Amino acid sequence: MSNENIVWHNQHITKEKRKVLLQQKACVLWFTGLSGSGKSTIANAVEAELFNQNCKTYLLDGDNVRHGLNNDLGFSESDRIENIRRIGEVAKLFVDAGLLVLTAFISPFKSDRQIAKNLLETNEFIEIFIDTPLDICENRDPKGLYKKARDGAIPNFTGISSPYEAPEKPHIHIKTFETTIEESVKTILDYLKINGYIHD
Ligand code: ADX
Repeated sequence: MSNENIVWHNQHITKEKRKVLLQQKACVLWFTGLSGSGKSTIANAVEAELFNQNCKTYLLDGDNVRHGLNNDLGFSESDRIENIRRIGEVAKLFVDAGLLVLTAFISPFKSDRQIAKNLLETNEFIEIFIDTPLDICENRDPKGLYKKARDGAIPNFTGISSPYEAPEKPHIHIKTFETTIEESVKTILDYLKINGYIHD
């Protein structure tokens, strides 16, 4: 669609002003990993800890957003691309609102994560790889979806019949098979403190 007749309107309240008011540097914590890898669990735990520390956050979770904003999308390649495109745009708005945004989507394609990253300024996008091997996710199978996928009842299932492209250089790499949830939360909070997103 053409935007030629739509003109950008500058707003008085800027990201810089919100940063001062909210006492935090807005960013996106972009969790990526297989279904059942622990993205939502870790993102929830991180958000709870940030909340305890008086930070202003918002968590966008794949399963939940697909009930509302993205309830018209399935799991074909083009629908996943659109899913991540919208989440990138929503995350950008929330960053503009001054929030620490956590996104928990499989986001299996490198190019889509790159597009989300490119929407933001340098240092506003923190990629967190929730690295859980497929066999562990499949053994856990919390929603029974891997079994259905193996039985052929769910097409295009990530890791089974649709690819997952792991990040090569994530900002934070969590190997869930050798890390507790508490340790993962600490690693992420430490990263945010060391890099000046939040205060001690
Ligand atoms: S993404 O690939 O487009 O980023 P998203 O994170 O929104 O996926 O949704 C993934 C969740 O949808 C999974 O955790 C799982 O519960 C459910 N799901 C249903 N069908 C599929 C499928 N074909 N592939 C992966 N996940 C699926």
